[in-house]
Amino acid sequence: MSPLGRILCAVDLEKASERAFDRALSLAVIGRAKLFVLHVVPKDVRYSSRAAERLQYLTELKERAKTAGVEVRVEEQQGDPVRVIVLHANARKVDIVVLGSNGRRGWRRLKEGSVAETVLRRAAWPVLIVPWDAGTGVLGEKQTRPSEVLHLEEVPLPNAGDGDVLVRVQAASANAGDSHLLRGTPLPFRLVAGLRKPKFKIIGNDIAGRVEAAGRNVTQFRPGDHVFGELSRCGFGAYAEFAVAPEKALALKPANLSFEEAAAIPTAGCTALQGLRKGRIEQARRVLINGASGGVGTFAVQIAKTFGSEVTAVCSTTNIDMVRSIGADYVLDYTKDDFAALGQRYDLILAVNGDRSIWDYKRALSADGTYTMTAGTNRQLTDALLFGPVLSMGRQKLGNLLMKPNQADLLFLKELCEAGKFRPMIDRRFPLSEVPAAVRYVEDGRARGKVVITV
Ligand SMILES: NC(=O)c1ccc[n+]([C@@H]2O[C@H](COP(=O)([O-])OP(=O)(O)OC[C@H]3O[C@@H](n4cnc5c(N)ncnc54)[C@H](OP(=O)(O)O)[C@@H]3O)[C@@H](O)[C@H]2O)c1
Repeated sequence: MSPLGRILCAVDLEKASERAFDRALSLAVIGRAKLFVLHVVPKDVRYSSRAAERLQYLTELKERAKTAGVEVRVEEQQGDPVRVIVLHANARKVDIVVLGSNGRRGWRRLKEGSVAETVLRRAAWPVLIVPWDAGTGVLGEKQTRPSEVLHLEEVPLPNAGDGDVLVRVQAASANAGDSHLLRGTPLPFRLVAGLRKPKFKIIGNDIAGRVEAAGRNVTQFRPGDHVFGELSRCGFGAYAEFAVAPEKALALKPANLSFEEAAAIPTAGCTALQGLRKGRIEQARRVLINGASGGVGTFAVQIAKTFGSEVTAVCSTTNIDMVRSIGADYVLDYTKDDFAALGQRYDLILAVNGDRSIWDYKRALSADGTYTMTAGTNRQLTDALLFGPVLSMGRQKLGNLLMKPNQADLLFLKELCEAGKFRPMIDRRFPLSEVPAAVRYVEDGRARGKVVITV
């Protein structure tokens, strides 16, 4: 089923940028829609040579549309732009009107009395307005410091196929992995991130937003749906106003969460869930979480509690109260207490952060306990990779986890949220223009819960 039937792209040839046409065409390709381009000539206006150039561009656009299998009709009308656009939208029963708008924030800051604002006010038909500057995104270029390589710039709408969903991003969240992608460290990361420079121009894993359009093979989502999702398996791109994802990378947003809260969940929430599951959380009576106060840790504490386990959280002095507030039964301050020396045994240890040897973890495990490492220092990682398989030959199991994003886990977490069993902890919010500061803040390793980007 085609989610979009007809698109009306109404332009003033003097002002419209070529990008406006490109975006309308991208939407038409994604939605398999017919595209009507209407250029309205206000009375008594004589067009300049610039308008002629755009007419030429429209001719080229029609050629490209033909190649993409999209039908385009171009019409010229004289008169008052608002009247003409409204009349045409009514007559054609369009699904989306593409209009230009002034200002970087697009329709959210439409100038009062402008054509776009008046059309939006008078709209009697289902309509979404796509601002000309819709493609603003944060790009990364070299493997070095985030603040030096990330910058905001206009980018085209991402390409989407028949199985893809185009999402207008409302919020994203930063992850420790962002700086690994930018720096290409540790070295094995370069297999994903690019050997000599980042492969992905726009980084960012986690999004929450509104479905703008859905490809014809998409069955689960419709334009207007609120979704959240994880993009690391489909080219990243969360730090932008629009992102594209296959439907399996997304799920409907938990109804009781804001976009910001929902964007905090995918990477960190799925990592916590998969780490706990790998540690057989269903059978674990006593759980220890090292690094309990960061993005992954705050989810791990709350999720472990939903399985009925007794949770001991390890963090620094400043985070003790916060970690207790999200449900930890016991809190160890790693600046004073050494969990491995206290003589306690845990059925499951999740090492989210920290710098302990695998032998310390092994000592704190019960006879058939499981230790899962999601991150921490290089020592934690190499220990788990080198010694994990050998130490797992008995009843104890010790190893690492590489999170695999998937829709089933997103849905599981959505249900927990909607049942009121957990809520993301948000430390800070940064606007899209300050993604470098957000990435740097997370990189410093002191975030208390998640860092969110508001788009
Ligand atoms: N394996 C995977 O697939 C996977 C997936 C996602 C993330 N990760 C990794 O998981 C790690 C954690 O991610 P995250 O999002 O939770 O990071 P994060 O939010 O940046 O973690 C920050 C937290 O770590 C705590 N911390 C720092 N040093 C610590 C130490 N020595 N011992 C205990 N806690 C310490 C800090 O708390 P205090 O200030 O209280 O110390 C802070 O609250 C990252 O390295 C990330 O790359 C792995």
